[in-house]
Amino acid sequence: MTTSPSARLAESDFLRACRGEPTSRTPVWFMRQAGRHLPEYLKVREGVAMLDSCFTTDLVVEITMQPVRRYGVDAAIFFSDIVVPLKAIGVDLDIVPGTGPVIADPIRRRGQLDQLRRLEPDDVESIAAAARALVGELGGTPLIGFAGAPFTLASYLVEGGPSRDHRITKQLMYSQTGLWNDLLERLSHLAADFLRVQVEAGASAVQLFDSWAGALSPSDYETYVAPHSRRVLESVADLGVPRIHFGVGTGELLDQMGDVGADVVGVDWRVPLDRAIEKVGPHRSVQGNLDPTLLFAPADVLHTKAAAAIERGRGARGHVFNLGHGVLPQTDPDAVKGLVDFVHGYERV
Ligand code: CP3
Repeated sequence: MTTSPSARLAESDFLRACRGEPTSRTPVWFMRQAGRHLPEYLKVREGVAMLDSCFTTDLVVEITMQPVRRYGVDAAIFFSDIVVPLKAIGVDLDIVPGTGPVIADPIRRRGQLDQLRRLEPDDVESIAAAARALVGELGGTPLIGFAGAPFTLASYLVEGGPSRDHRITKQLMYSQTGLWNDLLERLSHLAADFLRVQVEAGASAVQLFDSWAGALSPSDYETYVAPHSRRVLESVADLGVPRIHFGVGTGELLDQMGDVGADVVGVDWRVPLDRAIEKVGPHRSVQGNLDPTLLFAPADVLHTKAAAAIERGRGARGHVFNLGHGVLPQTDPDAVKGLVDFVHGYERV
């Protein structure tokens, strides 16, 4: 039996499920498993701004480890944010508590594109150091690196902050398509550069978050977004790690999101997992897809729904259990722990 950390890592249930290999039990981790629902997170973040914490090596290591220690999840997700690489190249932005990313000077003109330069290793040295330290601490538990996809990043940059309808973003997309494509091309390089830094520092999978892609029709996704997301995923293909691609409300786009170069397609809770699997096809794994508000339901309801997701997931090439979006800040950590234990115990019942 092999016991070295790198052998245990390669054979971890999470990576096996991503590759479509049989697993000993359904692997589970959660989007936003680190963060405000954890008292130990609130404690270490006291008096430290969100973005400052993302560039502070020790804090990134500690916050990434917190849910792994508490829950025994099958993967760690690197503590950072989708706007961190933008900050690292000097874009004037902040993360406002309770709101999200806010951009000082929203990007709507060609003359503003030059600030979106390539990411250099020096820009994120404290972040790469955190990833290297984490790989040592995590041992056989995989680290997932991530980046924001071009469309979702563009939405923040163009709107200037979070948006319900992405109106100004889509106006630019439809009316200044040349500028739009140049903007998304630059963002695709930035996302790919950031993923590469994390994998070269030891991350063993990556997730590309196109959280707001569900705002697009399939035809607009194909025309205005798919080429750019494909550039991101193809340019990290040589790294040889599984690529997960996730968005919210993307039921109609799941096949396209797989086709741009994903090994695993993330599914939100609006689509039954068996239907999602049909759309994604037999050559990719799926990740998801419990409604995050089920963590506020009675345990028997939560467990019935979790069992249904596991059963539906059996039809997939591989299934990584997750929520359909992030853990909500009001969530009780004991409910999360109960869910991890349920998923881990399920197949042995
Ligand atoms: O545990 C993890 O999942 C890793 C950490 C992580 C964060 N952001 C930390 C964070 C990840 C993967 C993200 C990605 C992210 N950031 C996305 C894509 C995923 C998704 O949720 O769809 C998006 C759209 C963002 C942009 C963003 N950053 C939002 C919408 C917010 C929340 C604003 C708020 O305060 O409600 C942030 C801030 C943020 N990112 C927090 C954390 C832990 C909260 C900061 C705090 O503690 O105040």
